[in-house]
This record gives sequence, structure tokens and C-alpha cells, in this order.
Amino acid sequence: MSAEPQVTEVGREATDEVVRIIHAAFAARPTLDPPATALDETAESVADALEEHGGLVATLDGRPVGALLLAPATVPDLDVESLVLRRVSVLPEAQQHGVARALRAAAEELALERGFRRVHVTARLELPATVAFWARGGYREVTREGTTLTLARELPVESDVATAEAMQSLGERLAGRLRAGDLVILTGDLGAGKTTLTQGIGAGLGVRGGITSPTFVISRIHPSLVGGPALVHVDAYRLGGLAELDDLDLDISLEDSVTVVEWGAGMAESLAEDRLEVVVSRSLGGAGSADRRTVRISAVGARWVGSDVADVVA
Ligand SMILES: Nc1ncnc2c1ncn2[C@@H]1O[C@H](COP(=O)(O)OP(=O)(O)OP(=O)(O)O)[C@@H](O)[C@H]1O
Ligand SMILES: [Mg+2]
Repeated sequence: MSAEPQVTEVGREATDEVVRIIHAAFAARPTLDPPATALDETAESVADALEEHGGLVATLDGRPVGALLLAPATVPDLDVESLVLRRVSVLPEAQQHGVARALRAAAEELALERGFRRVHVTARLELPATVAFWARGGYREVTREGTTLTLARELPVESDVATAEAMQSLGERLAGRLRAGDLVILTGDLGAGKTTLTQGIGAGLGVRGGITSPTFVISRIHPSLVGGPALVHVDAYRLGGLAELDDLDLDISLEDSVTVVEWGAGMAESLAEDRLEVVVSRSLGGAGSADRRTVRISAVGARWVGSDVADVVA
């Protein structure tokens, strides 16, 4: 099996295939207490689910090897609309071929198409590899009941931002969603507009101005003029990683501030539990046409689930 997995949206017609995959996948897992309810799925329950909200089937070399069911639901405890990915199943012999990843990506795309702002799953604490798989995809625990975790993520949203003024006002709108303790990581090409966005955030927060590219200092603190959180503006080109943020000799606590890190492209992998990843891209326009800038906001962490923060670019 060498091919890339292919994922197709399916309905009731795929019932037999989906039931077979769910049963085979869940039967191969270690026995849990209480047992996984997926093994109780019948042709009837799966047919009903597929008919109502559809599902996905993944194939490798044309062979169906993975499946999941979709359903609109509210995230437990948070009471916000979401698309839940249920019975995420990969046949044991098809593991390690990116099947689950392909299913996850396709489900997220479909969720956006259907107008959902977030997705969630349940996973058992006894299966740490499964929990880690979702965590790598940005899913974070929002609640747990016994050993059953609910993991959720906001879906990323992208939009064109045509002018520096528009970039600035996007920053101002974003500031309206930020509070003390928040971390914003700005990734993007040279001259893409990261500092311009930060200036907008500063204006929106009402902090003392003079926000410039902090190229010659690692960080600057901009105190609030309105009794709110300060803005800490960091240039991470000169920082080894986010862990070093804590080591910066700031006479201010990051918990009491909004921290904005300008980060080189490809450097954002160092993790903090909750963060807003903002990618500012710039593609050069041809002769006579302007550069095109896009901003993509991806909110990671329980802090952001249900926040609709991506609305600021929608
Ligand atoms: N959306 C936009 N459309 C057009 N021009 C923009 C846009 N956003 C920013 N600019 C302009 O692009 C230039 C570079 O912007 P900025 O300094 O914010 O980029 P940066 O990503 O911080 O750069 P660096 O990589 O050097 O830190 C500025 O002149 C700014 O006015
Ligand atoms: Mg800059």
C-alpha cells in the first residue's frame, strides 16, 4: 500500500462498508472499561447516521480502509455549535499510512463548507497515542467525563487583506477578542505586514504607541493607557524558542499582558498550550499589479473554543 489515501463523502449507500470498518477498527483496540460503544453500532444505526449527516470513507489503492461519521452537536459544557467526528476508524493493517490524518483534514474542510466554526471528537484517556494524534492536529481537551475526553478545535479562517490600513483595522478588531495572558504568534514572509497588524492590535488595546519592528531589541513593553493589559511585542528571530519567552528579563508578567511574537516562517512549531497562530502571507504581484496579502487565523487551545475569534477575518 503505497498510494496516498483518498477520502470521499458518503451517505447511506456506504452503510455496509462503514459498519465493517468501524467494527474491525474498534475490535482491534485494547478492551476498555467501560467498553467503547462503537462496537454496539449496527447496520441500522450507521445507516441512520449516514442518512442524516453523512460520513467519510478513506481508501488506499481503491480499498476502503477508514471511515468516520459526522453529526452536528454542541461541545459538552461549552454549549457551542460544532461538528463532531464520530467513530473515527482505520483498519489495523492500514495504520501508519496517513489515513486518519486524511480523514481528519477532509472532515475539517467539510465542516467549514457546512458553516461550522469548530470540530470536536471524544477520545479515551487510556489510548494516549490517539489523544496525541488529535493534539498534533490542534485538538485540545475542553472537558472530560471519567476517562472520556472531549477534544475540540476552532477551524482556521483565511482572508485577503488588501491594504496596510485594512491590516491595521484587522489588528484592532482582533484586539477586541484578546485579554491578559493571550499569546499571538505572527508568522509570515519578510515585509508581509506582521508589524502593521501588531500596530492595529496595539491601537485596539489602547496601549502606548510607537510599535515598530523590534529588530534591535528582543522585546518591547507597551503599557496600557486605558487600564487594560500591556502589549509585549517580541521579535523571535533572535529568540531560540518560546520557552525562552519566560526567561526574558521583563519586569512584567506575561499572564498580565497580551504577548505578540513576530516569528520567522517555519518557526512556529514550538508549542504553548493556547495560542493564536496568525500567518500573514505576501505573494508578489506581477508588473503593474499590487502584492496580494492574506491573513490566516488559527486558534489553538481550549481558551479559544467557542470564541469565534476567526470572525475578525471572516
Ligand atoms: N495588507 C497590506 N497591503 C499592502 N501593504 C501592506 C499591507 N500590510 C502592510 N503593508 C506594508 O508593507 C510594509 C511592511 O509591513 P510590516 O513592517 O508590517 O511587515 P513585517 O511582516 O512586520 O516585516 P518584517 O518581516 O520586516 O518584520 C509596510 O510598508 C506596510 O505599510
Ligand atoms: Mg516586522
